[in-house]
Amino acid sequence: MLDIQSHVSLKSYNTFGIDAKARYWVEIDTEEQLRTLFQVSEFLAAPKLILGGGSNLLFTHDFEGLVVKMSIQGIKVTREDAAHVYVKAGAGVNWHQLVLFCVQNGYAGMENLSLIPGTTGAAPMQNIGAYGVEIEQIFDHLEAVDILTGETRIFNHAECRFGYRESIFKHEAKGKYIISSVTFRLNKQPVFHTAYGAIRETLEAMGISEDQLTIKAISDAVIRIRRSKLPNPAEIGNAGSFFKNPEISKDDFARLKADYPTMPGYPTGDLTMKVPAGWLIEQCGWKGKHIGNAGVHAKQALVLVNLGGATGAEILNVAYKVQQSVEDKFGIKLNPEVNII
Ligand code: EPU
Repeated sequence: MLDIQSHVSLKSYNTFGIDAKARYWVEIDTEEQLRTLFQVSEFLAAPKLILGGGSNLLFTHDFEGLVVKMSIQGIKVTREDAAHVYVKAGAGVNWHQLVLFCVQNGYAGMENLSLIPGTTGAAPMQNIGAYGVEIEQIFDHLEAVDILTGETRIFNHAECRFGYRESIFKHEAKGKYIISSVTFRLNKQPVFHTAYGAIRETLEAMGISEDQLTIKAISDAVIRIRRSKLPNPAEIGNAGSFFKNPEISKDDFARLKADYPTMPGYPTGDLTMKVPAGWLIEQCGWKGKHIGNAGVHAKQALVLVNLGGATGAEILNVAYKVQQSVEDKFGIKLNPEVNII
């Protein structure tokens, strides 16, 4: 049975805490319900928004269609070989719960991605990443339902066309599929990713030396770092990084570095450098600033915040102003990482 509701507040379903409304709303808990959805006229006729944890979107108006909240649960090991364990998770599984399940069972590869808000089904869409690891490194395949035909289709790694905060689901496949489950390939023998400076420092502060390293220790360190920098959406509305870190040419980087010697940058190819957007925004004086109840987080300038009761338009206004400042000062265009609806 499907329980289609109308005029539902989305406030508790987006981590910015924006009080937008859905014209129609349905929650999907099982694959059976997902199949039934294709017999519902509201579903076939209306514009659709597939919602996971609502942790990477900004509502700037009410949604005049059907919001499909994906809540399919379930984590199971589907296969094992000498080196790997394959773990399948329903689209609605909370991402951090999945990470904890893997860490507790000694399945390595996800530990650097601890405490990222959101659901498993949404994770491949922007190839979530943090502290030197991206989901594509452990992704095996996913199952998705074609919105037009209702048929299930498998996407393997190559078909997802992963990039930095990118996948096919943000481009050609955008709005065409509902991801129902994702299968990951975890390692029995861990490969520790501790190159990210903050991880090494935090492990040291936790008194963990290199020979004591475990995936649990890395997960704990990442949790500590995230808690110290990123606002908890339950307390301050936010969607993590609002913008992507921009990539610029090495020539442009050298030119800017001459004027701003402290500007950080990481090579991403022979000719390109990635610059932390948080640094650029901070240099423009935005860190900790707000306009009304919409602003820039005081501990991490890449995170825009709803200090209470802001509208999506107010947050977007801050985003435009931040973009403008960065472009005026550095000639660099910031692109949002968050989906603006
Ligand atoms: N920085 C500043 N001021 C700030 C913030 C950052 O100067 O206010 C500079 C510092 O030089 C710092 C560098 O930026 O060393 C990097 O900062 P941080 O380690 O916080 O990472 P980030 O590049 O700002 C990215 C991801 C985060 C992820 C972290 C850790 C993007 C868009 N964001 O942020 O992902 O957690 O790295 O790997 O790539 C998210 O996507 O929502 C997210 C939180």
